[in-house]
Amino acid sequence: MSLLITGIGELTTQDGDAPVLRRAAVVLEGERVSWIGPSADAPAADEAYDAGGRAGLPGWVDSHTHLVFAGDRTAEFEARMAGQEYAAGGIAVTVEATRAAGDYDLTRLLLARVAEAAAGGTTYLETKTGYGLDVGHEARSARIAAGVVDEVTFLGAHLVPEGADADAYTDLVAGPMLDAVRPHVRWADVFCETGAFSAEQSRRVLEACAAAGLGLRVHGNQLGPGAGVALAVELGAASVDHVNHLSDADVDGLAGTWSGSAAGGEPGTVATCLPACDLSTRQPFPPARRLLDAGVQIALASNCNPGTSYTSSMAFCVATAVLQMGLTVHEAVRAATYGGALALRRHTGDDADGRRAVGSLAVGHRADLQLLDAPSATHLAYRPGMPLVHAVWKAGRRVR
Ligand code: NIG
Repeated sequence: MSLLITGIGELTTQDGDAPVLRRAAVVLEGERVSWIGPSADAPAADEAYDAGGRAGLPGWVDSHTHLVFAGDRTAEFEARMAGQEYAAGGIAVTVEATRAAGDYDLTRLLLARVAEAAAGGTTYLETKTGYGLDVGHEARSARIAAGVVDEVTFLGAHLVPEGADADAYTDLVAGPMLDAVRPHVRWADVFCETGAFSAEQSRRVLEACAAAGLGLRVHGNQLGPGAGVALAVELGAASVDHVNHLSDADVDGLAGTWSGSAAGGEPGTVATCLPACDLSTRQPFPPARRLLDAGVQIALASNCNPGTSYTSSMAFCVATAVLQMGLTVHEAVRAATYGGALALRRHTGDDADGRRAVGSLAVGHRADLQLLDAPSATHLAYRPGMPLVHAVWKAGRRVR
């Protein structure tokens, strides 16, 4: 079954050859894009849809979320808005509620959050464990997540559970817990921060996970300067996320990972910015402009979680990045689509084996597309907070 979408006033493809097309059309065939070009030249298809001059762009790629949880942290948010600082310890409240929830409820909650994200234009999603914090509950979170989302990350090293010895818990994460989650996850992450895991503990977990074949990501430099970015760079992590407090050496280190990639080398470490979290925790925004100017590839992600960022709105993140972080609309939209795909190493794909590229629109890529009730993507920042999503296709299937 093929679908021809005509009359797209402005199509942002993020494809190197033609990043923005006017009066464009796209053909979706099954789960892949099979044709892109001027509306006037469009081929016939089984069905047709007139976009009516609306803007089209790839679905959002949300490369950092924590969606497997139960419970509520409204009181903590209220206290924070009254002046209390965010501390990693709040995670324990969610751990208790998550452990108490049954599999059915946890799955139902996750499905509802993923549906909410899809309605907002998100078509490719990563989520993490990290609210189980013992072998059985981490494995359960990983298993449930693997049945629902595109990419699953093991975050047993999210917080040392109350009463546990930090080094003994680190050994548990790097040993039996890793073995238990391994069949369900592609990535591993650590919260490398004062109050969570030290640089040495983070390294131990990341090295064990890399040896088990997992790709690496790091929560780094969120609440203050620290070792997270340097560790991510040293261990060749696909991304380091938060990056609010960066030294010159951190920026140089990240830039160094990208110096060979223009010549066709492996991608470097993506700096993932989480502006909704920064607003909700009243942290300074990451120096995204400086990172881009230094040659670092950035991603924008929602960090949807009950503690620091209870939103999956990527449009809100894009608007904030433009209005508050000094990015152009094109840079912000790219970071929320192609940048997320780079951070998840899904920016390229193989048309033959079905592991298709996401985050950009080109022939053979996954048919993930959104149309806005607006003539251009600029309206995402020009009309912040407005419900602009008109229609969404995920892997060729209309989900809104
Ligand atoms: O990315 N920083 C660590 N983890 C989450 C917060 C989790 C929570 O507070 O529940 C984050 O912000």
